[in-house]
Amino acid sequence: MTEPGPDPSPALPAPRVPGRYTLALVCLGNICRSPMADVVLSARVAEAGLADRVEVRSCGTGGWHVGEPMDRRAAATLRAVGLDPSRHRARQWDEDWRGRSDLVLAMDHDNLAALGGRSERVRLFRDLDPVEPGGEVPDPYYGGDDGFEEVLAMVERTSAAILAALPQTLDPTPDPPTS
Ligand code: 4NP
Repeated sequence: MTEPGPDPSPALPAPRVPGRYTLALVCLGNICRSPMADVVLSARVAEAGLADRVEVRSCGTGGWHVGEPMDRRAAATLRAVGLDPSRHRARQWDEDWRGRSDLVLAMDHDNLAALGGRSERVRLFRDLDPVEPGGEVPDPYYGGDDGFEEVLAMVERTSAAILAALPQTLDPTPDPPTS
């Protein structure tokens, strides 16, 4: 008999409201990393037909860029793969989001610390990275275009892993009877 392989769908915290899910993605400025993750994950949610049940939002722990569109390099990186960055406007984290989110995902350890650290519903985004879990999404703001490509690759594969876990999280199948 073959052993089952590793679970490809890491468990997400249970929804606060059964059948619905809200994810908050958090970086520093909300013009590079978390908006890229927001656009990619929202596109995957829509492709899976879950847009009416799963809400994805993003914000920054800092307020310097509130109201601004995405960084032009982040926007160009998304456009190059057919995604639309145009609707984004930067927002700042508000403590209201904590109680309204099923899962808050910080892009790096500084962002996580600004949120008060890890808890059941507050984690690093890349805790869900299937290739290299537990790392940071590095801040590309002061670097070159390569940094945005790297962010996109991390965000694409981690979003796919989140999507793989969502159906079971939204509609859990009961455990089979043990006897
Ligand atoms: P983000 O990148 O946190 O990925 O949006 C940054 C954007 C702006 C700044 C830093 C990081 N800033 O210092 O203005």
